[in-house]
Amino acid sequence: MRPVHSPLSADVDPRLRVHSTEPLVGGPPLPLLRRHFVTSNDLFYVRNHGPVPLVDPAAYQLEISGLVHTPLRLSLAELRDRFPRHSVTATLMCAGNRRNELAQVAPTPGEVPWGADGIGNAEWGGVRLGDVLAAAGVGDDARHVAFGGVDQVTRHGETFGFGGSIPRDKALGAEVLLADSMNGAPLSPVHGYPVRVVVPGYLGARSVKWLARIHAQRDPSDNYFQSKAYRLFSPSVTADTVRWEDGLMLGENPINSVICTPEAGASVPAGRCVVQGYALAGGDRRVARVEVSADGGRTWSRAKLTEGERWSWEFWEIELDLAPGTELVARAWDTASNTQPERLETVWNFKGYMNNAWHRVRLDVR
Ligand code: MTE
Repeated sequence: MRPVHSPLSADVDPRLRVHSTEPLVGGPPLPLLRRHFVTSNDLFYVRNHGPVPLVDPAAYQLEISGLVHTPLRLSLAELRDRFPRHSVTATLMCAGNRRNELAQVAPTPGEVPWGADGIGNAEWGGVRLGDVLAAAGVGDDARHVAFGGVDQVTRHGETFGFGGSIPRDKALGAEVLLADSMNGAPLSPVHGYPVRVVVPGYLGARSVKWLARIHAQRDPSDNYFQSKAYRLFSPSVTADTVRWEDGLMLGENPINSVICTPEAGASVPAGRCVVQGYALAGGDRRVARVEVSADGGRTWSRAKLTEGERWSWEFWEIELDLAPGTELVARAWDTASNTQPERLETVWNFKGYMNNAWHRVRLDVR
């Protein structure tokens, strides 16, 4: 399989806010994101770490190897013909979503300055990873399933592929797909054509795009993007003091909620105002409650959850009285009673991952 690189950033929807062109990284304005429960392909955030590979579908081969009884090499046609098709509507979120707020505490140098736009919800179509693993016969000693992409990334003078792994039990879950379609259309090159993994409930980094290899193994992936990047360090650790092995390996998303409209800094008339946003629970948990404050967190009202699905975000809405000087704040609980921490200081980490502090939006109320 020989990847070809092309300057695809020119093809990206002009409404996306592009944070970086090479590699391509961007997300939609929040009011647009909140307009539709299923995010259109054009507005779905993009997070690449290297150039977009263009894969020749006729030459495509997916390799399944490692601790399996029957190693497999599947063409695109074999993947589609041998296994039943399934779909799942699921939200993907980058671990760096909401990173830009952390700059209020201290900078996170060299990292993408995501707003709350590193998230999207789509209907993914494809085959179950569990069905493909069953065909290969996963050995009892395989505790993790690792993925490798076609794309090549350069870090610290070295070039290597993007990869990561998930625990065996998650890999066998019916919700985990090898997807070849997104909202009924073939995956586009930027979102992983021809096949990507979709791991609902986990950080987006495990949903490996341009999938080339699946490897059943005893230990978690030692790929750079799991052994160094996408690890959580305590607020006291910096790039100068980091010991990579001390970082927590990220996995399930934490509970989070975000105010999408009105947007930060918007001019709005005093009085009644509809406030809308999204909330996301991690793993197999659901969003149980969202509360919103119009006075910086002194008093709270419960928002109405308007739309949600098993592996998707929840949309929420509330009508509140806004007065001059309003600071809106949102916080959520999940079905395991986890809630969001109040302060950014408690979640700050030098890589800027998993910010789920209360979401605050200052408005210009007249
Ligand atoms: N897979 C490969 N092969 N290369 C990548 O750079 N980025 C990951 C993941 N899969 C990435 C990848 C990250 S960090 C995220 S958040 C999601 O893809 C983003 O998927 P999207 O660009 O389709 O929204």
